[in-house]
Parts: sequence; structure tokens; C-alpha cells
Amino acid sequence: MDTIKIKNGNFEADKIPEFIRQNKYGDITRLLDGLGRLNNKFDSTPLLFLLKHENEKIRCLAVKNLAKIGNSNLTKTFINIVENDSSSIVRREAVSAIGRLRDHSNKQILFKYLDDSDPEVALQSVRGLLVFKEDEDVQEKLKQLENHPNETIQEIIKKEFRTNFTNGYDPNHTKSPDFMKNVVINGDVREILKLVSDESVHLTFTSPPYYNARDYSIYSSYKEYLDFLEDVFKEVHRITKEGRFFILNTSPIIIPRVGRQYSSKRYPIPYDIHPLIVKMGWEFIDDIVWEKPEASAKNRNAGFLQHRKPLGYKPNPCTECVMVYRKKTDKLIDWNIRQYDQKVVEESKITGDFESSNVWKIDPTFDKIHSAVFPLELCNRVIRFYSFKGDLVFDPFAGSGTLGKSAMNLDRFFFLTEKEKKYISRIKENLTQTRIFSDEKFKPNFLSTDKFKEASK
Ligand SMILES: C[S@@+](CC[C@H](N)C(=O)[O-])C[C@H]1O[C@@H](n2cnc3c(N)ncnc32)[C@H](O)[C@@H]1O
Repeated sequence: MDTIKIKNGNFEADKIPEFIRQNKYGDITRLLDGLGRLNNKFDSTPLLFLLKHENEKIRCLAVKNLAKIGNSNLTKTFINIVENDSSSIVRREAVSAIGRLRDHSNKQILFKYLDDSDPEVALQSVRGLLVFKEDEDVQEKLKQLENHPNETIQEIIKKEFRTNFTNGYDPNHTKSPDFMKNVVINGDVREILKLVSDESVHLTFTSPPYYNARDYSIYSSYKEYLDFLEDVFKEVHRITKEGRFFILNTSPIIIPRVGRQYSSKRYPIPYDIHPLIVKMGWEFIDDIVWEKPEASAKNRNAGFLQHRKPLGYKPNPCTECVMVYRKKTDKLIDWNIRQYDQKVVEESKITGDFESSNVWKIDPTFDKIHSAVFPLELCNRVIRFYSFKGDLVFDPFAGSGTLGKSAMNLDRFFFLTEKEKKYISRIKENLTQTRIFSDEKFKPNFLSTDKFKEASK
């Protein structure tokens, strides 16, 4: 049998039966993985032989490689696999193989698989049929899937058949209102945001009050607290530019027990707020874990250390969640990037070392005035990873204004709101220590809600 050149050496097809006899699954997989382009001259016998292999990954790779040959005579083989193979990955690969043949006479076959109970199989038929998207019968069939139970299929159909979609340049995307640039407002964020127009900010990074765990905000119930956050984040969504990010730092909290016969209570804030955030139109992107040294965490295991009994274990919480969301859009991240001048993109690049995992080890910062401040390094990372130079970044719960300080250092504009007067003077202190934007016009400006109202007119 022939020896065929592959990416990582030669495909020694005649070795396959021997590999199978010796149970060398790894070798077969590597061989099949390494196969590059194939053409009509390729001897498909060993691949056809592998379609009966007991390992689904090998069957799948065999189908994938058979598809590369592009021979319409293999259609029946692929149909047979879709109808009889027990594995979802092999069946969907076979549908994909039928699609890859780009043969009009296979449309009816693909129509049939649109009704498959396996959404991955249906999805592959959608993809195969999209090649014939201009055909009326294909359009009619695919449009019927607009309310398919599977969300990915729904999304693809909506995207493919949407009307009035523009994917071009939006001159306003990189801009933000001057009256919001480097402005700190003392007031309730819910009142302030009523004065802000849609799509004004590029990035929001915030750490909201920790329910009633600290002294600065008291809510009558946990529900009232979650409703409050929901109201604020809906507004943040409205004022965020298309496809831009909202990064939320929260963590489960502990409310101490009220007496010896009671237990302390844990409130899983990130997990309770997450569904509300997604429902209001943010797309979940990433979960970053902010890890602090254990020594900085509240010690909860003193009791367990003594009794060592099961069920009484209480780990010390030394992590917080940094949840990353993006304002839902059909446009790709690449569209957002394309809105900027090449020079700004170049200057905003993250050079040098960066944290490549989703665990960010950063020491907490303790502040003389505020009890829960962001470490500057946390803000620096978020701003550098999720905004461009010249963007407007927002913190609705500014506290000591760490985000503003970081924004100034990194050549971004900030917009901060903070309810407590005592923290406003801390923000002033924090920001005057920071380099000022060269343009006098954008010197940090401290306003009341009323003054901001005037400025926004
Ligand atoms: C966890 S702290 C934020 C600390 C901040 N990340 C820092 O680096 O200093 C939450 C802040 O939200 C403020 N806050 C609470 N409710 C507010 C509201 N309705 N409007 C504006 N600020 C509010 C609190 O006063 C508190 O300073």
C-alpha cells in the first residue's frame, strides 16, 4: 500500500491493520490527526475499514479524512453512518462530510437531518445547507428553525437571515461625551445614570456593596439588595457601547450568627446576580478568580482545627470572583477592534508578561479610610485587557476611586459615582497623586448630581 506524505511525516496506511491488532489506538489517532489535504487518488480502503472501529474518536477521524477526499460516491457511506452509528460525534461528522461535498442533490438528505433529535447533528445540517443559502427552498426550510429549541441553532438562523445588519464603521464607537470625562459625582448612581445617554461608556469595572457585610450600606433584605444591583446593572447595560465589557467583582459573603444557637449565613452573591445579569442582555465571557494569600482571609476554621468532625469544615475564603460579561451583539470582537485607528490599537497592546490563566494572584490593599478597596494592580489588568487608550471607563461604586487612578495612569478617561461624601475626599486625594491628563479640560472634576445635571444639558 502507498505511503502518503502527511504534515508530521508519512502516512503509512499499510500499518493500520497492524496497529489495530496491537491495540495501538494512540498511533492510529496520531496518524489520522496528522493527515493533511487528501485528493481523489487517495486509497480510502484503510479509512473505510476504520469506520467499524470500536473507538468513536477513531471512527470520527476516519469520517473526517474520508470527507477530505471529496468523492460523491461516499455519500451513501456517510448516510449509513448518520443512520446507524451510536455516537453523536461520529454522526455529526458524517453530516458535516455530506455538507462538505457541496452537492445540490444532497439537499433533501440534509433537510431530513434538520429534524434530528441530536442538536449537534441538526446544527451540522444547517451549516451544510448554508452553502446553498441563496436557494429558495433552503431559505424556507432554515427560516423555520428560528424558534428551534437549541439556542445555537436559533442564533445562527437569526444571524444569517437578519435584515438591516451593518458591520461597518461606526464613527461614534470610540467616542464618549466630554462632560463625563474624568468626572466624579457624589450621589446615588441610580439618579446619576438617568442623565447619561445610551452607549456612552466603553468599560465598566466595579465592586458593589457586599450586601450588609460592611457598614456602608444597609438593605432591608437580600432581595432588596439584589433588586438594587439589578437596577444599576440594567442601566450600565444601556450606557455601554455595543459589544463592550462589564467586569464585576463580588464574592459570597458571611453574615455572622446572631447567637450561639444560630448559624452564620452565607450569601452566594455572584451566583445569585449572574442569572439576572445574563437575562438583561449581557453575555457571559469569563470567570476570573482573584486569589489572595490565605493569611489575608478571615479565619473560619479555628473550631474545626479542634474538633476535626465531618460536616463542620469551613474553608477560609481567599478568592473573589471577577466575572467578565460583554454587551450582547452579533458583531465579533474583531468589529470592536476595527473601529479604532491602527495607532491606538498599537499603543494599547499588552506588552511583556501577562497572566495567561484565569487565576489572578494579587495581594489585597488596605486603605486608611475605605474598608474594601480594589488593589491598583487588579484595576490595571482589567483596564489594559478590556479597553483601549482614550476610552471612557466607569465605576458606579467608586469607593476610594482606585479605578480612576488606574485609568489616568493608563491614558483612559474615567467616570466615577460614589454615594458617600467621606469617600469623595479620599477619591480627591487618590486622584491628585496621579498624573494629570495633558489637556486642562480633562482635569478631574468633582460634581454633585445637580451640577452634573447642568453639565449634561
Ligand atoms: C465595595 S465599595 C467599592 C470600593 C472601590 N472598588 C475602591 O476601590 O475603593 C462599594 C461602594 O459603593 C458605594 N455605594 C453604595 N451604594 C451606592 C449608590 N447607590 N450609589 C453610589 N455609590 C454607592 C459605597 O459607598 C461604597 O463606597
